[in-house]
Amino acid sequence: MKALLPRPLFLLASFVVAVQAKVYERCELAKRLKDHGMDSYQGYSLANWVCLAFFESSFDTEAVARNKDGTHNFGIFQINSGWWCTYSDTASDNLCEIDCQELLHPGIEHDILCAKRIVEDPQGMAVWDEWKTHCENQNLTEWVKGCHL
Ligand SMILES: *[C@@H]1O[C@H](CO)[C@@H](O)[C@H](O)[C@H]1NC(C)=O
Repeated sequence: MKALLPRPLFLLASFVVAVQAKVYERCELAKRLKDHGMDSYQGYSLANWVCLAFFESSFDTEAVARNKDGTHNFGIFQINSGWWCTYSDTASDNLCEIDCQELLHPGIEHDILCAKRIVEDPQGMAVWDEWKTHCENQNLTEWVKGCHL
């Protein structure tokens, strides 16, 4: 019996591990966002950010979705390639001055910096449809409940 996987299978297995998505736990994400100054950033409580991330990506840092207009949304906050970052799908204003794929890193530092830039615009978090639908004007206390922050 062979103890080792045939080489192609071994390589495939390594690849799968290497690209495995980091999916945050709710409180883990809350803590990370708080540590990066997101609590009350532009007046939005931490719970707003956790709620947003849940409905945009289910806390999956590698979430990518294609929009009808051909642009894509990236990462935990589903940041759009048409405006905020560069990707091969479209000419972008690249307002966050970043390659969109940087928004898929498990550490989410780039996502946080870019989200801060996004909410500095007048419409704030209302640029995110999922936030408007599920989080705006809601009682959000459950999103950070039980978290040791
Ligand atoms: C929000 O919900 C929590 C329970 O989930 C409740 O204790 C609290 O009073 C509510 N706050 C408001 C403003 O309704």
